[in-house]
Amino acid sequence: MSRIFSGVQPTGDLHLGNYLGAIRNWVRLQDDYECLFCVVDMHAITVWQEPDELRASTREVAAALLASGIDPRRNIVFNQSQVPGHAELAWIFNCVARMGWLNRMTQFKEKAGKNRENASIGLFAYPCLMAADILLYKATHVPVGEDQKQHLELTRDIAQKFNNDFKKELFPVVEPLIFGAATRVMSLRDGSKKMSKSDPSDLSRITMTDDADTIAKKIRKAKSDPDALPDSPDGFKGRPEAANLMGIYAALSDSDIKEVCERFGGEQFSTFKQHLADLAVDKLSPIQDEMRRLMGDPGYVDGMLNEGAVRAQEMAEPILKEVRETIGFLRK
Ligand code: TYM
Repeated sequence: MSRIFSGVQPTGDLHLGNYLGAIRNWVRLQDDYECLFCVVDMHAITVWQEPDELRASTREVAAALLASGIDPRRNIVFNQSQVPGHAELAWIFNCVARMGWLNRMTQFKEKAGKNRENASIGLFAYPCLMAADILLYKATHVPVGEDQKQHLELTRDIAQKFNNDFKKELFPVVEPLIFGAATRVMSLRDGSKKMSKSDPSDLSRITMTDDADTIAKKIRKAKSDPDALPDSPDGFKGRPEAANLMGIYAALSDSDIKEVCERFGGEQFSTFKQHLADLAVDKLSPIQDEMRRLMGDPGYVDGMLNEGAVRAQEMAEPILKEVRETIGFLRK
């Protein structure tokens, strides 16, 4: 049986990278797989979060998932902290993973920066919690953007080491699902940097709560170069901004980058940006309207998350039992 797990952190506003790299793909996969989609609030607290903002963001991200087209009846949609098994299995994986493996994680190095001594232990052990999220349900496939690839390799290493140590094929070796024209959306201000929630410049990203004028302004101000757009992807060499904006257009219009080059090759950035802004507003505004409607009904969102947590808990419990038994913990 194929089962999907994926997650998103409730830290600040979701951006176009989260949507095109992950959430939109989840919507497409829900017809073919049994899926669990999780708002990972326990991952969020690996760096400081204001409690009221964390609560609001958790609801907002859940609303964004539904507004994007994820059906909470067909799939399990929940927030991580409501299912205690994530923390329990993460501890076990802390004892399986090796310091050397975690030391190699580029995301930790980026996030901890120069001040490594002052980073939380949670930030260091973050990938063990991520492995626990996935393996708590024996998920086999994980749709993510490209930046999560290394974490998924670690998940595979943890599953394999656990299985080897206990001489039992308990955990599946998960497959990443990284697809679409925008697996790595770049900053609008610098085509060599990933679009990210933590970029200090608000102009670097389009968020799921930006209104039409803001989206148009951010695209108009996006970094470009003086040349006309290339008519084939071969022309992207040394032109990361052109590659990024045309990639975003391809993803939003459900075409591929080659077609976008054929259509806009030879045009100036200014003309293309106008088309891109119209397309982005057209695709995002129905999602934003629905998000606003759902945010006006927090009782509904909370109820949906609670129900999701009950279903997730039921799925996790027999797997946790098997894990406890395998390790040698006494039965309750
Ligand atoms: P997070 O919250 O940073 O991002 C959520 C999803 O969005 C994708 N993404 C991007 N895709 C393309 N271009 C970008 N610029 C971009 N930025 C973000 C991410 O790849 C991700 O798929 N550690 C994870 C959350 C997590 C998780 C899990 C994911 C926790 N447990 C288990 C999968 C399975 C994270 O921080 O995602």
